[in-house]
Amino acid sequence: MRAWLMDTYGGVEQLRLGEVPDPQPGLTNVLLKVKYAALNPADAFLAQGLYPAKPTLPHILGRDGVGDVLEIGTEVDSVRVGETVGILRCLAGVDMPGTLAEKVVVPAESVTQIPVGWSLEEMAGAPLVFLTAWQALTQWSDPPTPPPGGSVLLVTGASGGVGVASVLLGQSMNLIVVALSRDVEKRTRLKVLGADFVFDPGDKNLVTSISAAISPKKVDLVIDCVGGRLLPHIIALLGYGGRISIVGRSGGTVPEFNTATLLFRRIRMGGVSVGDYTAQAAQAAWKEIVTRLETIGRRPLVDSIVSFEDVQNGFARLAQGPMGKVLMRIAT
Ligand SMILES: NC(=O)c1ccc[n+]([C@@H]2O[C@H](COP(=O)([O-])OP(=O)(O)OC[C@H]3O[C@@H](n4cnc5c(N)ncnc54)[C@H](OP(=O)(O)O)[C@@H]3O)[C@@H](O)[C@H]2O)c1
Repeated sequence: MRAWLMDTYGGVEQLRLGEVPDPQPGLTNVLLKVKYAALNPADAFLAQGLYPAKPTLPHILGRDGVGDVLEIGTEVDSVRVGETVGILRCLAGVDMPGTLAEKVVVPAESVTQIPVGWSLEEMAGAPLVFLTAWQALTQWSDPPTPPPGGSVLLVTGASGGVGVASVLLGQSMNLIVVALSRDVEKRTRLKVLGADFVFDPGDKNLVTSISAAISPKKVDLVIDCVGGRLLPHIIALLGYGGRISIVGRSGGTVPEFNTATLLFRRIRMGGVSVGDYTAQAAQAAWKEIVTRLETIGRRPLVDSIVSFEDVQNGFARLAQGPMGKVLMRIAT
């Protein structure tokens, strides 16, 4: 089969389209013919050696995807040959060969049917980012509350994969959603998507503008995909007992951080790791996510689709800041 091969930790620019033997499903896995794969910042981080996993080389990146079941392991009875399935979070693309290939082997317990009415494209990029957003929303012993009371959720990098998922799931919980994006067009789209308020994170008066918009409320929970210089401003917006789910660092490391800003309002920060889901927990969370999207009448958002040969443009689009997910079409 053809696959994008990672021969070094020199970044995604070094990926090479090559031929490798077809993978074999083993006892408890399934072999898929990949139709669409999604690109994630984690692929780019892993390819630079900036990720905990250090798979043996050559490695195949790619965490998400949809495909047709070509073969099943002898112990598999939950999936049938010929079905089209989506991949929930698993080790594909991390410690095992991933989805940037014509075929991939994944555990049978980590695949799921395409929700009724969804396109393959909508499914292909959704699991990793929606499961991440779900953990970011629910990891607290005192999760955000719907009206009356109505918690305020602030999402940074709201136009990205995790950001859009957070805005939609926040909406499904009836939270007041404040979404940040650097791009005016994307802010308009986030409003249409259901964000109650949108702001430019580069706004010099960001803290006073958001405070005025949500007054007399304060921000209860932040889902932070960006980090960097924005973090101290985000902390300033939180009320007593406010929480930050730290998801990512698209804006780099935080240049100056005064830990005293956490003290008097008992601010809590909690890391998010989508890798922590067991296969069973991911299946349960995914079911809940799909139901919630159905209830609010929304679907995952696809930003763009590149061809299998065009992986570099796909990663370039991802680095630019997409609106939703960047996919690769591998087969029709
Ligand atoms: N912890 C976990 O388990 C987990 C799981 C998934 C992802 N992540 C991480 O979470 C982050 C977001 O993931 P994603 O899939 O949503 O990424 P994404 O689709 O690339 O979106 C990130 C968004 O952040 C904004 N952004 C990008 N570069 C920025 C910069 N230099 N300064 C400020 N804003 C910037 C962009 O929004 P605008 O252009 O609209 O401002 C972009 O759309 C990544 O760091 C990723 O590695 C972590």
